Amino acid sequence: MNKAKRQAVIAGNWKMNKTPAEAKELIEAIKPLVADANCGVVCCVPYVDLSVVLEAAKGSNIGVGAENCHWAKSGAFTGEVSAEMLASMGVQYVIIGHSERRQYFGETDVTVNQRVRAALDAGLTVILCVGESLEQREQGVTSELVAMQTKIALGGVSKDELSRIIIAYEPIWAIGTGKTATSEQANEVCKTIRETIAAVYDEDAAEAMTIQYGGSMKPGNAAELVAQPDVDGGLIGGASLKAEDFAAIVKAASEG
Ligand code: PGA
Repeated sequence: MNKAKRQAVIAGNWKMNKTPAEAKELIEAIKPLVADANCGVVCCVPYVDLSVVLEAAKGSNIGVGAENCHWAKSGAFTGEVSAEMLASMGVQYVIIGHSERRQYFGETDVTVNQRVRAALDAGLTVILCVGESLEQREQGVTSELVAMQTKIALGGVSKDELSRIIIAYEPIWAIGTGKTATSEQANEVCKTIRETIAAVYDEDAAEAMTIQYGGSMKPGNAAELVAQPDVDGGLIGGASLKAEDFAAIVKAASEG
């Protein structure tokens, strides 16, 4: 597999953190630190922070994303936000299927697929999250599970549309726990996902797919993780809230 065929992307997932004023401050701090990045840089932020972050990131190399979107264009879905609404603001990315959405808000592989479809139709680039729980890893079903999550999420997605899909492999047991997958574990599952793309689409599509690792990635372990042949950057939670830490991870990916 040829890593040169795809771009590494470091994406921050701010989760439910930062008021608009704090978000502006964080983006302003990140901007100069990542200006020379040799990889994609994205910050996915709470809906209410999107306006200020889009404004602050204007003219920089930072892409801006949301953390979810609904599958309908509009309608009676109290509290939800559509992909079209995001696109109309100038948002370019959206995280879909994060394990916290699946775990706490009843997301299923089917609704993840519907949201992916809506995001693509609105012109957004999707950061699609897949990953196993500790129990599933111990049961030895990780490969089958992530392959299935990937296949269902991408149902109805054409090969051309894959250029607007990034997949993030995030073992649930590593998210926010300080427990990182070993670089071998991370690479093994990213490779399984790549093989799944090759099986469903073809080798070219698999080689071009950006597949990130996520789960307690930080400055101290990023270089080793992103150096793996099938790991193309990362989705960063906790460490994306500190400008220096996020920038250090971007630097590791730029050099990796
Ligand atoms: P973490 O979160 O880096 O805090 O483990 C990663 C994620 O949930 O995307």
